[in-house]
Amino acid sequence: MSKHILITGGAGFIGSHLADELLTRGDRVRALDNLSPQVHGFNCSRPSYLHPDVELIVGDVRNPEAVRKALKGIDAVYHFAAVVGVGQSMYEIVNYRQALSNPYTGVLAIFASRILNNNPPLIFEDGYQLRDFVSVSDVVQACRLALEVPGVTGSVFNIASGQQHTVREAAAKMAKVLGKEQIQPKITGNYRVGDVRHCFADISLAQSILGYKPRVKLEDGLIELAGWLEGQVAHDRVAEAREELAARGLTV
Ligand SMILES: NC(=O)c1ccc[n+]([C@@H]2O[C@H](COP(=O)([O-])OP(=O)(O)OC[C@H]3O[C@@H](n4cnc5c(N)ncnc54)[C@H](O)[C@@H]3O)[C@@H](O)[C@H]2O)c1
Repeated sequence: MSKHILITGGAGFIGSHLADELLTRGDRVRALDNLSPQVHGFNCSRPSYLHPDVELIVGDVRNPEAVRKALKGIDAVYHFAAVVGVGQSMYEIVNYRQALSNPYTGVLAIFASRILNNNPPLIFEDGYQLRDFVSVSDVVQACRLALEVPGVTGSVFNIASGQQHTVREAAAKMAKVLGKEQIQPKITGNYRVGDVRHCFADISLAQSILGYKPRVKLEDGLIELAGWLEGQVAHDRVAEAREELAARGLTV
């Protein structure tokens, strides 16, 4: 049955993809988003990728009045409003609508901006740390299932691809799909304070209860990403970000 759904952070990366999916399902979608400058730039207006059928309320989730207004007539809420940085992400999500030149977005976007500028990706530690890269379309699939599968209210599920890759491997694959296999990553041996050595999730509960099946392999996600990168301007701001981390004592 069609529902009226609120997505907080609905103008962001995951929220806007979820909105597309819910509209396809026949739902009505409202987004509450403060169009935070770190994501949308200063003096920004409604992002062009946000589906025109999404009702956008520009407001802050920390403002009870804005939240009360946004909740009027709503059947279900997805909460994605957050101030996001790489250090806060548990895993990296492979897809576009990630700002390519923002060094605080996912590691794959950072590698891509380095490689497209003919610079080697810079890798912390020894590069053998494991990560799970999940496609945003699989995250959206899980969100949809959480709405549709009966009896899961109050449950918590890990959502990831279920596949682990070393960061070295991810850099090499990214260079390959961009046609720049000759660019080898530089292993810095530096450590970022608070980084987890291996980071991946057990998705068995989501598989058995929600019927979640990750569909997009890393290679396929990277090919899709490379397609989107054509025609994008990639400013390499990694050096500035690294200097900032070092100045704050966040790398050793
Ligand atoms: N993208 C990833 O790789 C990834 C990985 C793991 C977890 N997550 C988590 O998923 C969530 C959403 O991530 P995303 O990639 O869509 O981020 P995003 O930055 O693209 O979207 C977040 C949205 O929230 C909005 N926002 C920020 N503060 C707000 C506030 N106070 N009130 C209203 N809106 C506000 C921003 O304007 C933005 O549109 C976050 O909690 C993030 O930590 C993301």
